[in-house]
Amino acid sequence: MRFLLILCAAAGMFAAPDPKLAAAGRIVYNRACTMCHGLDGAVGDRAPALGAQRRYLRRSSQELFNAIKLGIPGTLMPPTPLSDLEVNQIAAFIQSLRATAADVEVPGNTARGEAIFHGKGQCTECHTIRGRGGIIGPDLSDVGGYLRLEELRAALTTPKESIPRGFRPVRLTTASGEVIDGVVKNENNFSLQILTRDGGLKMMLREEAREITYPEQSLMPAGYDKKLTSEEFQDLLAFLSRQSRRPRP
Ligand code: HEC
Ligand code: HEC
Repeated sequence: MRFLLILCAAAGMFAAPDPKLAAAGRIVYNRACTMCHGLDGAVGDRAPALGAQRRYLRRSSQELFNAIKLGIPGTLMPPTPLSDLEVNQIAAFIQSLRATAADVEVPGNTARGEAIFHGKGQCTECHTIRGRGGIIGPDLSDVGGYLRLEELRAALTTPKESIPRGFRPVRLTTASGEVIDGVVKNENNFSLQILTRDGGLKMMLREEAREITYPEQSLMPAGYDKKLTSEEFQDLLAFLSRQSRRPRP
C-alpha cells in the first residue's frame, strides 16, 4: 500500500483508489471533517468542498495525506490526531469523490459504443474524437478524463441548466433575409462570430443584422437513455468513459 502511494505521488498521477479503503475513509471523514468541509465532501461553507469542483490544489495521495496529517499552516485547516491508517483511508475517500469516468470501471462493450457514436447516435455530426467528426460541440477526446461518470451520464440524458460559453446557440437574420444558425464563439457590442452547423466561421456586424435571437435550447440533444436501448446506452457510456489523454494505471 505504502509502495503504491509513493508510486502515485512520484508520477503525480491520479490512480483509482481502492474502493474498500475509500469506504472506510468515508466513515472517518464524516465523523471528523464535516464541520468544516461538509457531509460527504459535497459542499463546504467554512472550507473547500473537497470533491465538488474540477481543479484541486492537492491531488496526489501524498499531498492529501500531508495536508490532513499536518494541517495547512497559516489557515484554519488543523492537523489531525487520527492514525496514519485513518488518514490514508480519508485520502482514498477524497480521491474517490474526485475520480473521473476514466478512473472507474464502466461496464459495457466499448467497440459497440464506438460504433453507436459514429453511427446510430450521430454524435460525430457535432463532436470530434481524435480528429474525426464535427466541431460545433466540444471535442470529446478527453471527456472521460475530465467528467465524472455521473456528469457524463447527465450530459447524455438531461439538458444543462445553463449552456456553456462558446456553445450558446444563435440565429441571425441578415438584412437581405439570409438566416444563419450556429453557436456564438465570440461577441461584443458591435459584432459576433458565429460557428455554423456546417463548420464555417462567420464574422457578422450587429448593425447589418435584421434580427438576432438566442434559442434557449442547447444544440446538444438530451434523452439518449430513451433514444437508445439500455444496452446501447451503456456501451456508449463505456466507450466515452475510456476517452482520456491520461494513461490508464
Ligand atoms: C476548522 C475547520 C477545518 C477542519 C475541522 C478540517 N479542515 Fe480541511 N481545510 C480547512 C480549510 C480552511 C482549508 C483550506 C486551507 C487553504 O486555504 O489552503 C482546508 C483544506 C483541506 C484540504 C486541502 C484541499 C486542497 O485540495 O488543497 C484537505 C485535503 C482537507 N482540508 C482535508 C480535511 C480532512 C480530511 C479533515 C478531517 C480530518 C479536515 N480537512 C478538517 C478547514 C478545516
Ligand atoms: C446537433 C449537435 C450535437 C449532437 C448530434 C450531439 N451533441 Fe453532444 N453536445 C453538443 C453541444 C453544442 C454541446 C455543448 C453544449 C452543452 O453541453 O449543452 C454538447 C455537449 C456534450 C457533452 C458534454 C461535454 C462537456 O464538456 O461537458 C457530451 C458528453 C456530449 N455532448 C456527448 C454527445 C454524444 C455521445 C452524442 C451522440 C449520442 C452527442 N453528444 C450528440 C452538440 C451535439
